[in-house]
Amino acid sequence: MNHTGLHADPELLTALAADLRSAAFTVDGVQQRLGPVAAAALHREQVTPARRVVTDDDPLDVLIRFFTLGDAVPGELLDVAVPGLRSHGLRELGLLADDGRARFDLRPHADDTHDCWVVSDLSELVTGGPLPDDHVLGIGGASTTLASWTVRRPAAGALDMGAGCGVQALHLGAHCERIIATDLSARAVEILRFNAVLNGERWDVRSGSLFEPVAGERFDLIVSNPPFVITPRVAGVPLFEYRDGGMVGDCLVRTVVQQVEAHLEPGGVAQLLGNWEVPGGTDWQDVVREWLAPTELDAWVVQRETQDPAEYAELWIRDGGHRPGTEAYERMYAAWLDDFDARGVASIGFGVITLQRPATKRRRFQVLEEHRGPVASPVGPAVDAELAALTWCAEHPDEVLDQNWRVADDVTEERFAAPGADDPSVIRITQGGGLGRQLHIDTAISAYLSVADGDLTARQALVAIATLLERDERDLLERAQPIVTRLVETGFLVRT
Ligand SMILES: C[S@@+](CC[C@H](N)C(=O)[O-])C[C@H]1O[C@@H](n2cnc3c(N)ncnc32)[C@H](O)[C@@H]1O
Repeated sequence: MNHTGLHADPELLTALAADLRSAAFTVDGVQQRLGPVAAAALHREQVTPARRVVTDDDPLDVLIRFFTLGDAVPGELLDVAVPGLRSHGLRELGLLADDGRARFDLRPHADDTHDCWVVSDLSELVTGGPLPDDHVLGIGGASTTLASWTVRRPAAGALDMGAGCGVQALHLGAHCERIIATDLSARAVEILRFNAVLNGERWDVRSGSLFEPVAGERFDLIVSNPPFVITPRVAGVPLFEYRDGGMVGDCLVRTVVQQVEAHLEPGGVAQLLGNWEVPGGTDWQDVVREWLAPTELDAWVVQRETQDPAEYAELWIRDGGHRPGTEAYERMYAAWLDDFDARGVASIGFGVITLQRPATKRRRFQVLEEHRGPVASPVGPAVDAELAALTWCAEHPDEVLDQNWRVADDVTEERFAAPGADDPSVIRITQGGGLGRQLHIDTAISAYLSVADGDLTARQALVAIATLLERDERDLLERAQPIVTRLVETGFLVRT
């Protein structure tokens, strides 16, 4: 049974891809055509500026009107816009409705290596109403966050779990040989197969819940933007298949964290987004630590934001296409608050979870940190370096002072002193790239960083600094070791 009305005919999809490419229906092409103001407005889901730019005279404009703005477009114009496929080809693929409008959202996407196109269900912007429960999401803020944080190491086998329209799988294509994309939604599975053929990808698309479709299989990399939205399980609140997995509270993300280990090769990495409920009187690290307790995984979890229960309810009810003031909105709002009250939830955290199955027998690392500030885009290369540094430090716990570290090129130092004071009361170091971290350090560590150019080991430099500052050498080394370790883990200090 076909759930979407899409037909992934390879010949027709090859013709469509060629037409889209020759019309420059790519990220850069559309951006250039619309200009910065209309393109930025479109990102804010405002179509009026774009409508004032596009005409009927150019294939690219017609494609923008048809696929991006949701306009009904006459067949003769579509024939010119996609001359290889023509409008009857669009209809055969299931992309053209009888009223001349697109049946699906089709938008260009790109990474550092290639341009691609992503088909998904029409957005609320085009349909103008609440999204159906079996909606298949397009590329959104969460998708791009996960894609940005993903470690792009060459991998033999990769899994995109809860792949939706396949945006993560498309990015995996740049560095992974074999890609399995899974989803519970029958409509998502059809859209995944369609997008794979449209983009010339050979994903193994499988249907099923969580890790069921890959029972007994292991991967070097697993990515998942899972349906993490916490939703009350009561009558009158729909089960949004595309964003909530039907479980109570944050159970789905906890289940993924606890089941993923069995599917990672030694040294394999899993990265996912998640929400966690923080009951009053506890902190978020306690919650996540409890999730991780039954596993043997390394974990690096970054909490990016928190919301109170009311903010959370408002965000996700609006995201489902409901507006304040309607009966449905008020009923759902109360249901969300009752649901959080029932579990004593005081706040909800959102963040990025990076897990690694250690490749060697050693003590695992667990870093649970808050980092709300802006990060580089993509931040994946910095995440990759930080994961490698965390791993090295865990594998060589007693060797950190005996390496010839050098200060990374993007590190700067600022000193703050009370007016007239000789010595600074605060010394702050900042990373220019990556996660853009800031740390406060003392005079001895600052002195070490000022000479850390790879010539001396940290120990040699710190011994000389102890003499210079008339400090006890042993005490200074003991205090410095965890700080130097953290500076290495976070990329302030790197190998020569
Ligand atoms: C938030 S969307 C993510 C889509 C896409 N990977 C992205 O990054 O934009 C979550 C996806 O998980 C799917 N899903 C929901 N419940 C699931 C389950 N139990 N097992 C696997 N996938 C599920 C939904 O159908 C949806 O496509």
